[in-house]
Amino acid sequence: MEGIFIGVLCLSGCLTFSTCLLHQYHFVSDAMNWTEAQSYCRETYTDLATIENTEEMKKLKDTVSAAGHNSEVWIGLYSHIDWKWSDGFNQSGAEYRNWVSNEPNYLAANQFCVNMNYGGSWFDYNCHEPRPFVCYNGTLEDSDFVPVNTAKNWSEAQRHCREHFTDLVTVRNDADRDKIHKLIKPLGWAWIGLYRDPQIYWSNGSNYSFSSWYQGYNPLGSMKVVCGVADLEKGGKWRLFPCEERKPFVCYSVPTVKTLVKVRVELQDSSVDLNDPAVKEQILKELQERLKEKGLSGVTLKWREKADGKVFHKEEKGSDKKKKTEL
Ligand SMILES: *[C@@H]1O[C@H](CO)[C@@H](O)[C@H](O)[C@H]1NC(C)=O
Ligand SMILES: *[C@@H]1O[C@H](CO)[C@@H](O)[C@H](O)[C@H]1NC(C)=O
Ligand SMILES: *[C@@H]1O[C@H](CO)[C@@H](O)[C@H](O)[C@H]1NC(C)=O
Ligand SMILES: *[C@@H]1O[C@H](CO)[C@@H](O)[C@H](O)[C@H]1NC(C)=O
Ligand SMILES: *[C@@H]1O[C@H](CO)[C@@H](O)[C@H](O)[C@H]1NC(C)=O
Ligand SMILES: *[C@@H]1O[C@H](CO)[C@@H](O)[C@H](O)[C@H]1NC(C)=O
Repeated sequence: MEGIFIGVLCLSGCLTFSTCLLHQYHFVSDAMNWTEAQSYCRETYTDLATIENTEEMKKLKDTVSAAGHNSEVWIGLYSHIDWKWSDGFNQSGAEYRNWVSNEPNYLAANQFCVNMNYGGSWFDYNCHEPRPFVCYNGTLEDSDFVPVNTAKNWSEAQRHCREHFTDLVTVRNDADRDKIHKLIKPLGWAWIGLYRDPQIYWSNGSNYSFSSWYQGYNPLGSMKVVCGVADLEKGGKWRLFPCEERKPFVCYSVPTVKTLVKVRVELQDSSVDLNDPAVKEQILKELQERLKEKGLSGVTLKWREKADGKVFHKEEKGSDKKKKTEL
């Protein structure tokens, strides 16, 4: 290959480092359920709002307040509620529950383990609290329930049961409950084997690390999925609600630009084929490096292929004067 070649490069990304980090929030006053709100945000902006630090939290609150709204707005937070038994029991009876009314309430978004009280009723509770507990020995079909009157947190209790017996107790029906209830009466409260994973996600799939939970109740009922709001009446703190409720919401977008740049290459070495994938890749790499040196690390570069699948074409004589780009 020899001569002058033209290729088109597609640049997309953030203009400056700071615009890459700070996304913009957009308040939408139309009340929708969470999934509708998510679709709307994905079509119109990037996604439902994610919040990763206090600065973003403040920005979101300011955006909603400026729109004159001052109660709950959907954000991108959702959680699966998946209760499990410590021994993995998943057959008939695994869904048996004996919650006291208004439980599980997921107080302060911090309760993942289950307690039975002296009345036989169940409460969700902080797993790190030390409590007596009930193990079982043998198999579930032919088991001895064993009360242990030593206060341990849930995972220590589980370990103890697994070391000395079979596991923390599984409660499959009223008969199990009544037997265990009798054992718990003198202990007051005790852990049983029911717990759930703290599965909380952002709508865009990114992990949840920063949090700003309201320190009150999040009644879960028998819901399998719950969705998050920022409650402006509670200082923007997060709470969980049934996803089918209709509420205004907040989307986010990342300010990006897209632009096309013509690249003109003069080749003297006839052994080089610019359309060789390895060569194209190498040129991109070098351009990306140069952009990085100029502080534009958030920019993505891609070659634009013509209909024939090639990027570079020989400059035709008499064609429009090509813009030479300096990068
Ligand atoms: C129950 O658990 C067993 C063992 O972990 C697993 O193989 C099976 O698929 C589970 N069944 C259901 C219905 O989840
Ligand atoms: C339970 O207690 C053990 C030992 O004191 C500790 O290492 C562990 O972190 C505790 N777990 C929870 C969930 O609090
Ligand atoms: C647990 O059960 C096994 C047999 O299944 C028995 O040998 C053992 O003594 C039992 N342990 C207690 C503490 O009851
Ligand atoms: C989700 O959004 C955050 C910005 O809030 C961003 O940092 C993160 O990379 C995004 N995750 C995905 C998987 O797009
Ligand atoms: C989120 O965290 C989990 C466990 O810490 C990890 O396995 C997973 O890859 C992470 N997901 C993302 C998108 O970062
Ligand atoms: C939201 O509404 C749509 C259509 O009205 C429905 O298909 C969807 O299941 C609803 N989502 C939730 C979480 O209730």
